[in-house]
Amino acid sequence: MKFEHPAGANPIDRMEVVGHPLDRVDGPLKTSGLATYAYEHQDLPQAPAYGVIVGAGIAKGRLVSLDLTHAEASPGVLAIVTADNAGPLHLGRHNVAPLLGGPQIIHYHQAIAVVVARTFEQATAAAALVCPRFDVEEGVFDPEAARRDAPLNTDDDAENSSGIGDFDKAFAEADVTLDQTYRTPAETHAMMEPYASIAWWDDDALSLWTSNQMIAWGHKDLAKTLGIPKEKVRLRSPYVGGGFGGKLFLRADALLAALGARAAKCPVKVVMQRPLIANNTTHRPATIQRLRIGASKDGTITAIGHDNWYVNIADSSEDTSTNQTQYLYAGANRMTRTRRAVVDLPEGNAMRAPGEASGLMALEIAMDELAEALDMDPVQLRIRNDTRVAPEDPDLAFSQRHFVECLEKGADLFGWDQRTAPGARREGDMLIGMGMAAAFRNNMNVTSAARVMLDGKGGVTVQTDMTDIGTGSYTILAQTAAEMLGIPVEAVKVELGDSNFPVSAGSGGQFGANSSTSGLYAACMKLRAIVCDKLGLDADHATFDKGKVIQGNRSLDLVDAGPLEAEDKMEWGDIDDAYQQSTFGAHFVEAGVDIWTGEVRVRRMLAVCDAGRILNPKTARSQMIGAMTMGLGGALMEELAVDKARGFFVNHDLAGYEVPVHADVPHQQVVFLDEVDDKVSPMKAKGVGELGLCGVAAAIANAVYNATGVRVRDYPITLDKLIGGMPIPT
Ligand code: MOS
Repeated sequence: MKFEHPAGANPIDRMEVVGHPLDRVDGPLKTSGLATYAYEHQDLPQAPAYGVIVGAGIAKGRLVSLDLTHAEASPGVLAIVTADNAGPLHLGRHNVAPLLGGPQIIHYHQAIAVVVARTFEQATAAAALVCPRFDVEEGVFDPEAARRDAPLNTDDDAENSSGIGDFDKAFAEADVTLDQTYRTPAETHAMMEPYASIAWWDDDALSLWTSNQMIAWGHKDLAKTLGIPKEKVRLRSPYVGGGFGGKLFLRADALLAALGARAAKCPVKVVMQRPLIANNTTHRPATIQRLRIGASKDGTITAIGHDNWYVNIADSSEDTSTNQTQYLYAGANRMTRTRRAVVDLPEGNAMRAPGEASGLMALEIAMDELAEALDMDPVQLRIRNDTRVAPEDPDLAFSQRHFVECLEKGADLFGWDQRTAPGARREGDMLIGMGMAAAFRNNMNVTSAARVMLDGKGGVTVQTDMTDIGTGSYTILAQTAAEMLGIPVEAVKVELGDSNFPVSAGSGGQFGANSSTSGLYAACMKLRAIVCDKLGLDADHATFDKGKVIQGNRSLDLVDAGPLEAEDKMEWGDIDDAYQQSTFGAHFVEAGVDIWTGEVRVRRMLAVCDAGRILNPKTARSQMIGAMTMGLGGALMEELAVDKARGFFVNHDLAGYEVPVHADVPHQQVVFLDEVDDKVSPMKAKGVGELGLCGVAAAIANAVYNATGVRVRDYPITLDKLIGGMPIPT
């Protein structure tokens, strides 16, 4: 099925099941431990052995020798796989650095060996006896130094270098201008479940339990890396304990489990040690962003310029932190430019809302600063610069844009009119401030397929390789099938995350919910036609309701159609380009700052969102509050600190890399505008999982400024950056 025209009325509009705040269908499995995660599977052909990864202790250079003598002689050791003995390996399409390194070392903690032993303890002990010798090469590790050398990405069609009008002239002539530079640090995904896989071979066929967001990508890349046909590989990832973009790609745990199992001739389990994750895998790249905005005295933006230097290795994908600047505010003269500051650190790549998450951290402080320079309310400044069309392409209208409603509703609900001048509100030892920021994230639609089967006894099974990374995919897919077939949600069984199932969009880019349910919609439409055919009804005029198929005065039991199945996919036609598809929101934050210590406590958070139809308000709210919590971490805590001499992230475990805990998280309120977007899909839904993060950190930064009068432009906003500028307590 192809989505080419705005959706008309369809079975989803009944909203008997879709749109209701159902509990997660997988909730009882998760709370009782019956949802089996990658490392926990017991149903293996033989008892498994354990693989432990050895990471390189240098950032750049050559592995000159690797002495395995002591490790091999260590008790219980079955095999040690290195680049020397692994056989030919190829680079996966989504990998930049080889997952098994050597002799060339490209980044710190790049895997150089996996030690396989009978027990985990034996493998850990033996891994410590592996003796590498390196020739260290000099590298560039200092982001600021790399930025000074960063060439402009001159490629005219580089996605994130764009503009219209004459920015320089308009900026020079503007009544009021803002020119500031903001810094966001590298962040690690810090998901609860580490990267983990169990692999085994049956002759030349490989099976894996793994933890991966994108089954089809992992499946293809594992086959490609090993140089075997993908028909010989089966990848399963039914439950994922968080990914945030870190598990979009094939990672070392999966490859090394496969290689270890081949060498040891038994199933091998590999969990990536927590301290390896930050440097071995990908992270959100650091950015240095210069914002220049010019406005007339009434607050109308006349010039907006965004230069982004992102800190990454030479072959990385391009950072998209200028994205929201191309779409969010009106203004006739605009310019965005993206440059890579090349370093020899580990590869930066996608992390939740890649681009907008770090871009709004800069843009939305800049807007707060501009509002102050204009002596204008920050909410009003944003309303003044709303636009109905993509500002760089005036012929391109938004499919839906209720940004102003989000701002107005948020300001009203939050009590924004109670906001004081900076530093003017004190309660005991706390200075109290309010801040706000816009949320924006583009909507993407990705081809997605599903299979749906009637068992002829009232039960329905859905199969797709879609993943549930803690997001609620099982639940919204069950709701979609129940709605489409007119059956109770309890009658639907959803099976996910298996490379034998039809290929879905996977979980990424907040496209998963809308795309995967649309794929299931297509399969259900096909099944409805087959059912009607079988029952002698006309699918165009039949309704499916309460286990019946009804047409005119005829009402037949769905079970009488017998066992039937259908498979289809949803693809998107030109409509994707005919409208600018985006999601919008507004974040409001109240923060207290201790007047003696500079410690920040966020006291209240509110998000108002415009993201099309909300398929399940409960799981969507959970996505939102999780994202808002992540934004709190980004504002106040999260930073991968760079060792600029040796080239690695120093705080590479959860003791040194701080994320919010429950005690850090205040009251969070989430409001969804009651909207549907008929231009995006038959589900009329978009995504919220990333929108929820976009703008949060800036809203907190602005609240801290309002509390203290101290403007911090360098995340995270830790107390050392505040304390010197704080008012002297009395
Ligand atoms: Mo997302 S960063 O595409 O998992």
